Amino acid sequence: MKALVLFDSLFGNTQKIANCIAEGLREAGVETDCVSIKEARMGEVYKYDLLAVGAPTQMFTASKPMKEFLDRLKTVDLHGKAGFAFDTKLESRFSGSAAKFIEKKLGDLGLDIIKVRASAIVVGRKEKGSKAGDAVLKEGMEALFREAGRDLGRFLQARRQKVGIA
Ligand SMILES: Cc1cc2nc3c(=O)[nH]c(=O)nc-3n(C[C@H](O)[C@H](O)[C@H](O)COP(=O)(O)O)c2cc1C
Repeated sequence: MKALVLFDSLFGNTQKIANCIAEGLREAGVETDCVSIKEARMGEVYKYDLLAVGAPTQMFTASKPMKEFLDRLKTVDLHGKAGFAFDTKLESRFSGSAAKFIEKKLGDLGLDIIKVRASAIVVGRKEKGSKAGDAVLKEGMEALFREAGRDLGRFLQARRQKVGIA
């Protein structure tokens, strides 16, 4: 049983969260690779049982590189694989969500969403002259997403037993 955590990240927050999910999956006993979409090989993706896909929220939706990547994923048959979407975003009801966009696309590609999408919250720096890219993960987010990774591992194992795969 293998999992692939795929992420886009401009300033590093989403990459940190991707690494936490991967750690949690490994703690749950799932062999896991964690790869930037810039380095992902389309020919390898079909080998995994679970795809966890995440991006920064930009302009209320998924980053442009992630949207382009999801379009390219159409060339791979992913029907029946397990899926999970995550993002990083600001804490506001007007933030939008990359994960919402990704989850919908994963569903359209035939993946079975085994855990509802989740967002890791970032907070802007208060100092004068701070920019959008300076936002940092809110305290506790990394632990939360390691737990999400462990959950995914457990769900994946339960799902496997249900469908009777050895
Ligand atoms: C150009 C730009 C646009 C952004 N737009 C949004 C947005 O619409 N909603 C939101 O919640 N956060 C937005 N953010 C904040 C990012 O989602 C947040 O800083 C994220 O953690 C960045 O991830 P990264 O470090 O992996 O690149 C934006 C940031 C940038 C730089």
